[in-house]
Amino acid sequence: MKLNIAVLPGDGIGPEVTDQAIKVLQAIALEFDHTFIFKQASVGAIAIDETGSPLPDATLALCKQSDAVLFGAIGDPKYDNNPNAKVRPEQGLLKLRKELGLFANIRPVKAYDMLLDKSPLKKENIKNTDISIYRELTGGIYFGEKKLNDTETVASDLCEYSQEEIERITHLAFKAAQTRRKKVTLVDKANVLETSRLWRKVVKQVAAQYSDVELDFLFVDNAAMQMILNPKQFDVILTENMFGDIISDEASVIGGSIGLLASASVGNKHAMFEPIHGSYPQAKGKGIANPVASILSAAMLLDHFKLHNEANMIRLGVEKSLQLQITTPDLNTKHENITTDKVGNFIEDFISHPKDTNLNFANIHLGQSTII
Ligand code: IPM
Ligand code: MG
Repeated sequence: MKLNIAVLPGDGIGPEVTDQAIKVLQAIALEFDHTFIFKQASVGAIAIDETGSPLPDATLALCKQSDAVLFGAIGDPKYDNNPNAKVRPEQGLLKLRKELGLFANIRPVKAYDMLLDKSPLKKENIKNTDISIYRELTGGIYFGEKKLNDTETVASDLCEYSQEEIERITHLAFKAAQTRRKKVTLVDKANVLETSRLWRKVVKQVAAQYSDVELDFLFVDNAAMQMILNPKQFDVILTENMFGDIISDEASVIGGSIGLLASASVGNKHAMFEPIHGSYPQAKGKGIANPVASILSAAMLLDHFKLHNEANMIRLGVEKSLQLQITTPDLNTKHENITTDKVGNFIEDFISHPKDTNLNFANIHLGQSTII
């Protein structure tokens, strides 16, 4: 298969983790005889520095022409601490989601057996957790009208949803549930918000077309608690934009590191793949950022094009790296000096010689005496 992939590394650790995903995709292309063409463009704070815009026209045009977008991370402390900034890096990401029509953001959350003790949660509570979060991505409070009065003392953000916006992601969530454990949980705040009541009504109507899937409802405050108490109860979580943002960061605690969580954002025409973590500016250039979320996002990209064997190969490589603790310091207590790059190299090597784990391991330690 030939794929044109737009690469938007963005800010902070974005470039270094995205490099690992590209490396891994190139290994897949070689092994499985595909052609992946990568074209890079700027987005976020770095794009503001270069062009004044967080999403330059050329970047948007490249994304629209490509089959898929691989995104790194966005954000810079110089904007976070400046509420008066008129242009912000995050606007680039939000505009990109809107312009590409990426209305569904899919965030898988898994507790890997070998990482159970990395989570602050009790092992027995999280073991076997396997959740797929369907977060609406182009509506709600993120995109509603924003107001600030003249004296800058009163502000508001409108939260709006239409039936159509709810329906399209609901279909995707139910279809996903049909291939999983056949349960959808709608997370909302229907005891308070009108938009949530509309979500309940529309989701119930759509659910009638999927009689094999069970539907239940949870208020978001309760869902936040249940996520920690008993995450195994969840299969597919369906929710609106902001609740999905919050719940998915919370859910990352189950896996042991936010550096593991990948995501796919899909619409009718375009698709983008990105880690759920931010730009982690403190770690920039230090080689300590976990590239697994970006690498697993590349696996989701392959799944999107029905290259499931290829995607599974990446996942096997990731699992092997976790088993051997070829991991960055956020997860590692065994080996020293396993950098972002070395994790990428290991998984790349695994794809080329899956049976030769000892060699893969030795290769990442080239120049060191550690050979097992
Ligand atoms: C995410 C991020 C973004 C969001 C930010 C960077 C705008 O937190 O993708 O979860 O809030 O959607
Ligand atoms: Mg977020």
